[in-house]
Amino acid sequence: MSTLETTLPGGSWTLGDRTVPRFGYGAMQLAGPWVMGPPADPDGALAVLREAVDLGITHIDTSAAYGPHVTNRLIRDALHPYPDSLLVATKVGADRDAGGGWPPARQPADIRRQVRENLDDLGVDSLDLVYLRLGDAEGPVAGSLAEPFGTLAELRRQGLVRHLGVSNATAEQVAEARAIAPIVSVQNMYNLAHRYDDELIDALAADGVAYVPFFPLGGFTPLQAAALSGVADRAGASPMAVALAWLLQRSPNVLLIPGTSSVTHLRENVAGAALALSADDVAELDRIGRPGS
Ligand SMILES: NC(=O)c1ccc[n+]([C@@H]2O[C@H](COP(=O)([O-])OP(=O)(O)OC[C@H]3O[C@@H](n4cnc5c(N)ncnc54)[C@H](OP(=O)(O)O)[C@@H]3O)[C@@H](O)[C@H]2O)c1
Repeated sequence: MSTLETTLPGGSWTLGDRTVPRFGYGAMQLAGPWVMGPPADPDGALAVLREAVDLGITHIDTSAAYGPHVTNRLIRDALHPYPDSLLVATKVGADRDAGGGWPPARQPADIRRQVRENLDDLGVDSLDLVYLRLGDAEGPVAGSLAEPFGTLAELRRQGLVRHLGVSNATAEQVAEARAIAPIVSVQNMYNLAHRYDDELIDALAADGVAYVPFFPLGGFTPLQAAALSGVADRAGASPMAVALAWLLQRSPNVLLIPGTSSVTHLRENVAGAALALSADDVAELDRIGRPGS
């Protein structure tokens, strides 16, 4: 695994043929309310993306479903032509409906269309990393991914996609995907208070596969816990900083993509994630997600 000089907290990780800082950026919050429509402040959104790259971030997470099409086009407007170092990860597997819902769309024709939409929106000939997003808004749902993931693997063989991942997936679906084609990353919901994937993270780390937690700060409902506030107060840091630092310390294969629509919050998050947590801090924080520990 190669390394990369980075001033960002957490060092680097290699995703396929690209080494990126472990500190990345999730673009979902740049769309309008509930990830529908354009942002209230388009120039502010472009400024966040440019600041991310200026800070040294080279892993940006997006989806054609965000907006829909809004965050991908903002990324293109802000950053195209892309620096060689930039890895844009996107997703297929869901569309948006008029009410803002995320209906699954995983027939082979859907997957091909969504890859084409991502290519067009981002203005590229091949996508760096594409996740097959499974399950629904409540979380992963058991069931075979062979047909949609096989379609994605075929698009990879055709050169339209460089690397594959799965998202919102069960451990069984991760294993099924890996039997079909190599994956470089799993993107599931995980944070201090939601630790369903602890075993999966460790197993993926042993195999050199990245784990990218979505909702690292709690998503639409910011993380809140007395232990989190207590550790933050002791460290003179914000709860957000503690939550991000904890993820970086959790395992070397954990890559961060915290979302924000604010340049100020982006800078705060980068600075805050460098916080060194003591063993006592970690033990206290562990009790949030594993009450028995
Ligand atoms: N695969 C999937 O199914 C899936 C699902 C959800 C998300 N994702 C990906 O995961 C990424 C991260 O998730 P997320 O953005 O939804 O949730 P998140 O990173 O857990 O939290 C984002 C929220 O935290 C706030 N925030 C960020 N930094 C802050 C700070 N320093 N102080 C105060 N508030 C702060 C943001 O508000 P402000 O805008 O005001 O800063 C925003 O409301 C997304 O961008 C997306 O790329 C993937």
